[in-house]
This record gives sequence, structure tokens and C-alpha cells, in this order.
Amino acid sequence: MTSATRTWAIILHAGAGRRPKNDAQPTRDVCLNALARGQSVLRDGGAAVDAATETMMELEKHPLCNAGYGSVLNEHGEVEMDAAIMDGASFDIGAVGAIRGVRHAAQVARLLLREPQILLVGEGARAFARARGAELCDERAFHRIKTQAPPSSDLGDTVGCVALDPSGNIAAGTSTGGLSGKPAGRVGDSPLPGCGFYADNAAGGASFSGIGERIARKLLAARTMQYLREGDDAQRAADRAVADAGPIGGAAAAIVLDARGGIGWAHDTPSFAVAYAASDLAAAAYVTRSEDVRR
Ligand code: GLY
Repeated sequence: MTSATRTWAIILHAGAGRRPKNDAQPTRDVCLNALARGQSVLRDGGAAVDAATETMMELEKHPLCNAGYGSVLNEHGEVEMDAAIMDGASFDIGAVGAIRGVRHAAQVARLLLREPQILLVGEGARAFARARGAELCDERAFHRIKTQAPPSSDLGDTVGCVALDPSGNIAAGTSTGGLSGKPAGRVGDSPLPGCGFYADNAAGGASFSGIGERIARKLLAARTMQYLREGDDAQRAADRAVADAGPIGGAAAAIVLDARGGIGWAHDTPSFAVAYAASDLAAAAYVTRSEDVRR
């Protein structure tokens, strides 16, 4: 959607894949609830990085999402999470890979954002989380370890958020338990800049869901930024990036904001849970792009 420059805008995703039909309304409700947290940060004049982080932390609380509490399990039945946040004003990045035993991987990524390093993994990431006072938890605190519940969709439901704040700053982030049954130590696209996420105030921001190895092989977030810089609006950039994954098997989904707060989203998966709002646009949530008749 093209628009005059917006005061603020926010879009989140709660994962791509094939999900049960009776999940649709609960999923929309979870999305709108998380979106409200980000909207309130932006309406109060808060920073895009905080709006995006807080939105993802809200999604990380819900068993329908494959992030935080609802994370899927690796081949050993363990939870290993990836997350990232990027500030499009400074190009600062905070990301964690294969982190265990923290309540909110997105919070740990946010704590790393202003540090010289951009990515910490495994035990080192958890030690950083502990040292910086992030909320730690026992493995048994995670939903799928407690209940042995299967993932909500076939691809899991990585979460992400892109926000534009009233100062014109853009942030993009991701948080995920990765793919169900993944090898221990596997890291997907979600904590890799230019793959699962990117933000640049001059162009926009993007966050992806889907099969991380394909998203990373095609550098989908970097391609999205290139399309925005070439003049595509957010919707066209999202459509083109998702199509770029086609030749290697697809299973990709994107949310995009351009620098003026224009909104785009696309997926080649059966569903993709998305919610968005802007200073001139009421909040709405969808589980497929075809439902979104506003645009
Ligand atoms: N896109 C999430 C993952 O592959 O880990």
C-alpha cells in the first residue's frame, strides 16, 4: 500500500505454514493482542525498536506461536531459539542463535542491540542473558516440553515485527523456535541480517517466516531492501522477495514497511498470520493475504 508519510506504522507476523482451520480466529486474536502492545508504544512516541521487541515478547508468551513459550522442539526434544532486532537508524543489530533456557529470546536480542557484537549463540548467548538480567527459565517451562503438543502448523510459526516510529525510525525483528525436529545447534534465517530481517530508515524494513535455509540462501531480506531502494512500494517488494524463493522450493513469507510507512505482505504458504495498524489505519488481523481486502 502506498501512502503519504505516516506518523507511525506497525506490522507483525505470527508464522507461515498450513494451520488447522479452527486456529484462525484464535490466531487473529493473539496477533491483535500483541499488535496492541506495539501500537501503544508508538502512540506514546516510543521507539520502533521497543515497539517491535515488545510486540514479539507478547507473541512469545503464546502456545500458538513458535517462539518463546510455544517454541517447537529439536531432534532431542529441546527448545533452542533464534531471535533478532535491528535499528534502521544506526544499523545496530542484536541477535541470538540456538539459545536455551530464556523466557524471551527477543528480550535477549534487544539487550545485545547496542553492544559491539551482533550475534551470540548457544551457551554464550545464555551467559549474556544471565549477566544482563534477562528472564531465565527451566526447559520444563516451555509449552511443548510440558505437554508434548505438536506444532500449530507444518512450518512452525516464527514471529516477527516491523515498526516505523514517529521519529521516522524503522526497526525489524524475528523470534522463533526454528523448524520442528531440527538438528541440535541448527540456526535458521531468523537471527541472520539480510536473511530473516533487515531495517534501514532510508528504505524500510522486512521480517520473514518460512523455511530458513531457503530464505537465507536467497538473502530475502537483503533483496527486499534492494527492491525498496529501487522504488518498489512495500507490497511489490514483498511479492518479489517471496517469488525469489520459488526456484529453490519456496515456503517463504514476508512483512514489509517502506520508509513512509507503506505496508506490504506476501506468502507462498497456505496461510500466514499477520496483523497491522498505522496512525491512519485501524488494526486488523488476517491468516491469508487473500482475506485482506483493505488493500
Ligand atoms: N524461519 C524460521 C526458521 O527456519 O528457523
